Amino acid sequence: MSSVLDYEEISQDFDWSASEKELGYVEGGTINIGWYCSDRLCDLGLRKKPALIWEGHQGDERTYTFDDLRLRSNGIARYLRGLGLEPGERVCLFMDRIPELYIAFLAILKMGGIVQPLYSAFGEESLWTRLDDAGTAAILTQRKHVGKVRRIRDRLPGLRYVIVVDADESKLREAEIAFSLADTPPVEEFEVYPATAETPSVLHYTSGTTGQPKGAQHVHYSLISQYLTAKWVLDLRPDDIYWCNADPGWVTGTSYGIIGPWSNGITQAVLDAGFSARRWYGFIEKHRVTVWYSAPTAIRLLMREGKRVVEEYDLLSLRHLCSVGEPLNAEAVVWSWQALGLPFHDTYWQTETGCIVITNFPGMPVKPGSMGKPFPGIQATVLDTRTGEPINEPGKVGVIALKAPWPSIIRTYWRNPAGYERKFKDGWYMTDDRASIDEDGYYWFVGRDDDVINTGGHLVGPFEIESALLEHPAVAEAAAVGKPDPVNMEVVKAFVTLGPGYSDGEDLEIEIMNFIRKKLSALAMPQEIEFVDSLPRTRSGKIVRRVLRAQEWGEPVGDLSTLVEDEREGK
Ligand code: WT7
Repeated sequence: MSSVLDYEEISQDFDWSASEKELGYVEGGTINIGWYCSDRLCDLGLRKKPALIWEGHQGDERTYTFDDLRLRSNGIARYLRGLGLEPGERVCLFMDRIPELYIAFLAILKMGGIVQPLYSAFGEESLWTRLDDAGTAAILTQRKHVGKVRRIRDRLPGLRYVIVVDADESKLREAEIAFSLADTPPVEEFEVYPATAETPSVLHYTSGTTGQPKGAQHVHYSLISQYLTAKWVLDLRPDDIYWCNADPGWVTGTSYGIIGPWSNGITQAVLDAGFSARRWYGFIEKHRVTVWYSAPTAIRLLMREGKRVVEEYDLLSLRHLCSVGEPLNAEAVVWSWQALGLPFHDTYWQTETGCIVITNFPGMPVKPGSMGKPFPGIQATVLDTRTGEPINEPGKVGVIALKAPWPSIIRTYWRNPAGYERKFKDGWYMTDDRASIDEDGYYWFVGRDDDVINTGGHLVGPFEIESALLEHPAVAEAAAVGKPDPVNMEVVKAFVTLGPGYSDGEDLEIEIMNFIRKKLSALAMPQEIEFVDSLPRTRSGKIVRRVLRAQEWGEPVGDLSTLVEDEREGK
């Protein structure tokens, strides 16, 4: 695969101002991502170019040009402004991957609002936690999800508007409004909110070890990183048909499922359907997808279906493949090389980083199993957890740290500046992931340095699961950890002690599982519940998930000296 760029060469005197220049951004000037992803491309002569080729789960298809994006996002933006929504207010998108989601994303930014995308599979409690924390003013949703909003609305006094984009008006309740994109006239002129670099743009909720999920606060200036990393790492070229598997409820689905490709004027194809090897290969074949951004769990699912299925399709349009979200095992890279003729290029980053920070750059030799090297302009290292000093010895494991700032790093956690400050040490942003660096400068992921569970590339917070478990009447105490899984890398396992009068058994296990699935999501649902008499705790009473996790992974438990004696024995 020949590449136009040479990693070593461009790393030498890299400066983010190269990206500013390409985008025509001038320091101190306006920079509105919504405008950059629609109007600007029209100004550059791409009015008629398809921006979105959309396919629904039933096979229905729609295409929107960049001009459609411009006119329709203007339409939604004017509508939202007309409701009285103010710049800086949080507007939530709670929808499947339908065109309205993508266009409203741009519209909210254009009217100066902060977009809060939430995964539509979230149950009512996960939804409530995030809307309550953000003080969300309006939510755009679909008929099929509005029931969840109804059940929590009386606990959300700040939520002024519930907007249903596919409503059957006769079925709407009081204080709910119908909005139809198809019936909204295109709007030629809209006064785009004059956002500047530090104006808040997107609020993504992400899970940590302690407390409820945190709102990672991005700003419009993130575009500078997202534009260039999309162009260079995903190797986007003008004629590409780009496909990103991620849902915009997660950061990959916004940074590289909306902002990166569209700011580059690239056509993207979106499939609003779950996993199916045949469906996916058929989608690539039909739309002549050239660049594909996927994830390890999906690749492992494809591997499971075998090479035969691959051979039934013409996938020769594919030129470049990337992966994100969880460790990309060497086997998956080798498999794709053999089955698809191309290796998946791993990319590593986080909600907080806003853009890809470590990657197998196109054209750079891929070492299967390694995440690659820092993106030019990102200064990375691994720090010794004891001394806090960078480790200079190849192969020695430390915590991945990134020298702050770069354009797309989050500016704070919503209403939690102290939590944000804690992420930094001596100017280094701490990722809480562990890795080693080899003699060639390639990074090798080892694991997370905290208790967050990564299931199929989605982070779930143990605290959120434990809090929900405690709401079940039978549960007295709970701990949630990741246990190994061949496809999803890890899945949630819960350890539970029962309250007086309850006895364990399969019925109760299933009941609790469903309780969590409904409240939170299928991702957060424990795949196994182990009923125990007690949980390992520190002297101060804190549950030590590390012990339970080590047990699941067959790893040494480590220092147990701070645990309470009898409880340790109880395990
Ligand atoms: C966490 C971030 C990055 C956008 C999607 C997830 C894990 C991410 C990799 C990778 C191994 C990875 C890390 C990271 N992770 N990419 N290439 N190899 N692990 O964003 O939800 O904030 O999750 O996902 O543990 O910290 P996120």
